[in-house]
Amino acid sequence: MNKEFLWGSSISGGQCEGGYSSRSETVVDIIPQGKETRFAYLNHPGIYMQRPEGFYPSQDGIEFYEHYKEDIALFAEMGLKALRFSVLWSRIFLDDSLEPNEEGLQFYDNVIDELIKHHIEPIITTIHFDMPLWVVEKYNGFANRKVVELYEHYVRTIVQRYHDRVKYWISFCEINVMNHALYMVGGTILKDGENREQVLHQCAYHKLLANALLVKTCHEIDPDLKVGCEVAGTPCYPLTSSPLDYQLMMEEQRKDSRYTDVMVKGHFPYYFLKKLNEYHIDLKEEDMEIMKKNTLDFIAVSYYKTALASVDGVKDNPCLENTPFDWTIDPVGFRIMLNQMYERYEKPIMVVENGLGTYDQVEDGQIHDDYRIDYLNQHIQQMELAIEDGVDVIGYLTWAALDVVSTSEGMMSKRYGFIYVDRQDDGSGTFKRIPKDSFYWYQKLIKERMK
Ligand code: BG6
Repeated sequence: MNKEFLWGSSISGGQCEGGYSSRSETVVDIIPQGKETRFAYLNHPGIYMQRPEGFYPSQDGIEFYEHYKEDIALFAEMGLKALRFSVLWSRIFLDDSLEPNEEGLQFYDNVIDELIKHHIEPIITTIHFDMPLWVVEKYNGFANRKVVELYEHYVRTIVQRYHDRVKYWISFCEINVMNHALYMVGGTILKDGENREQVLHQCAYHKLLANALLVKTCHEIDPDLKVGCEVAGTPCYPLTSSPLDYQLMMEEQRKDSRYTDVMVKGHFPYYFLKKLNEYHIDLKEEDMEIMKKNTLDFIAVSYYKTALASVDGVKDNPCLENTPFDWTIDPVGFRIMLNQMYERYEKPIMVVENGLGTYDQVEDGQIHDDYRIDYLNQHIQQMELAIEDGVDVIGYLTWAALDVVSTSEGMMSKRYGFIYVDRQDDGSGTFKRIPKDSFYWYQKLIKERMK
């Protein structure tokens, strides 16, 4: 294994940071927990824009803001070579005045310095499902072109501040998840009577432009910086050998690949362009030029599960088992996804998320998560086969370095981390950190691979 390979892990501000009183709110701060319902609110916040009383798990996260030194020391003990985290735009700009909050900038200076002190490569995501709420309330998010300008100002501020220590930049977390979560990813709330697809395409156009502006900003400030955007890599299989299932699969996959196509190739593929025209999106010459000239240096990808296309409606894949949260477990799909992506784009790929979200039990102060070790082991094996196939993978970051608030359900008990965090679904707990068995397993694996 190449010594430069980035073995690491990921976290995000909206799910772990807390430090609620010293920043403004993010989109997830006002959405409560809900096993069956939360995702619907991440698409459209509905009554939650009126802030009813309740428990909102993202507001405190797991108090990374207070615990970051202790957490980074644990990451170093585990041997992580890289940590991906998000800067909270809402900590840097408390509102739409263009003056940054020095205390917020200082916080990430401290995080970055602490990582570097421990020889951990910092990787920044500029928005990880944690857009400022003021961007929604004042501008309705990326549906509004003004937000592209505000984003450009925000990223210029942070790239200027951190570029001497941060080489890898990721514009957005899972841009394609906007297909299902317009509010969380687009910062946009659909109004009565609006055509959702039209609004989605408008947001997509603006987000793609914003992504290109991050690439431009980074390369202007330092041509050695490397910029990616994260896409959720979810290969889709046809249920049967029917051409109709295959056709449906192709259409489903395009809904994901349309974003990466533009960001890597620098132009809109014909099928996407057709839709943009259908929805009367104003495609400006100068924007097209920016997107053409500022393409990604690498692709950041998450991998959790695969999907199935069937003209008879949603079905479970009979060949695969599911997690307790009904996500398929498909290590081979990981190798397939990496090959498909490399074949299509021929760009380096950084795996920025992969992991198992499930319940853990604390027994005598220990967590024996052999199921997580097994899951990660199988996925790493398949990634290594993809590398043998010739795919240029430059890093593998798991989700997540430690337990954080889950996105889809807002639950703490859906745990992904190598480090258990004592915070429970009802908000109780001491925030104590306990390394799980998987912590020591990953520590050993990294040591072996780095020999
Ligand atoms: C990815 C997100 O979609 O998956 C993370 O980037 C998220 O923010 C992770 O936490 C796992 O999903 P969930 O919904 O189980 O937390």
